[in-house]
Amino acid sequence: MLRFAVVGNPVSHSKSPLIHSLFAKQIGLSVDYSRVKVEHGEFENFVTNFFAGGGNGLNITVPFKEMAFHLVENCSSRCQLARAVNTLFLDKQQRLVGDNTDGVGFVTDITVNHSVVLKGRNVLILGAGGAVRGVLSGLAKEPPQRITLLNRTESKARHLQHEFESLLPIEIGSYSELPQRQYDLIINGTSLGLQGKVPPISPSLIGGGCCCYDLMYASRDTDFVTWSKNHGASLALDGLGMLVEQAAESFNIWCHMRPDTAPVIRHLRDAN
Ligand code: ATR
Repeated sequence: MLRFAVVGNPVSHSKSPLIHSLFAKQIGLSVDYSRVKVEHGEFENFVTNFFAGGGNGLNITVPFKEMAFHLVENCSSRCQLARAVNTLFLDKQQRLVGDNTDGVGFVTDITVNHSVVLKGRNVLILGAGGAVRGVLSGLAKEPPQRITLLNRTESKARHLQHEFESLLPIEIGSYSELPQRQYDLIINGTSLGLQGKVPPISPSLIGGGCCCYDLMYASRDTDFVTWSKNHGASLALDGLGMLVEQAAESFNIWCHMRPDTAPVIRHLRDAN
């Protein structure tokens, strides 16, 4: 029996145990995947004890992703870019290794599941928090033509612009002076949906054939998905597909087998 867990605080909402149990069933592996809420000062101890006790892998969620990044002895280049870990495991030398599968989860969902082409496209990103950092690390592999990033706090946008400048040219702007351009892809990486709000942008930024993507998901359309549909986006997607794809990549890292994500995405949609 392989032993995995997702660690966070709060963590009761996490769909990772369900997703990974569906993957395991599909592949025919015996897996015990639990949900663990850890107090802030206890994270490092928990990780050490989990692996010392024979645990095979951990998923890390809010608020421990950055802390996990500072714990690992080795990590992938995409993880280094994201400066956050969502997947932990031990290598053959028993060293703690970190990876970040959020960016590849986003890119796989949008390009494979929804056939959206990134190359040569104009992309608008709203927000500059951890979720956006993950997406940028994924986009660095498949750079679009141009990325415009808007954030309420300009210094955070500038920080990301500098960090990614060798890989992705990012122009930054503000909500008060919206760009005079139309976009092929608009990504909502703000947490405004938690307040039932959408980012203060004009629908005129939605170009012909535009895909709008909300990094959040909910059991019904998110406010940004509703806004996008109401303003003529060709495709309006939430982050459920990204969630399942990042999980599939973690599963692949741990078990060296890639599950079929389509039935799992369908299962989660139907369960809502
Ligand atoms: P996550 O890890 O999920 O990305 P986060 O790091 O807290 O969460 O980032 C939340 C994002 O939503 C940030 O870009 C934040 O803008 P600031 O950097 O200015 O804080 C954005 N956000 C939150 N509330 C907002 C609001 N009322 N208006 C505009 N942007 C908002």
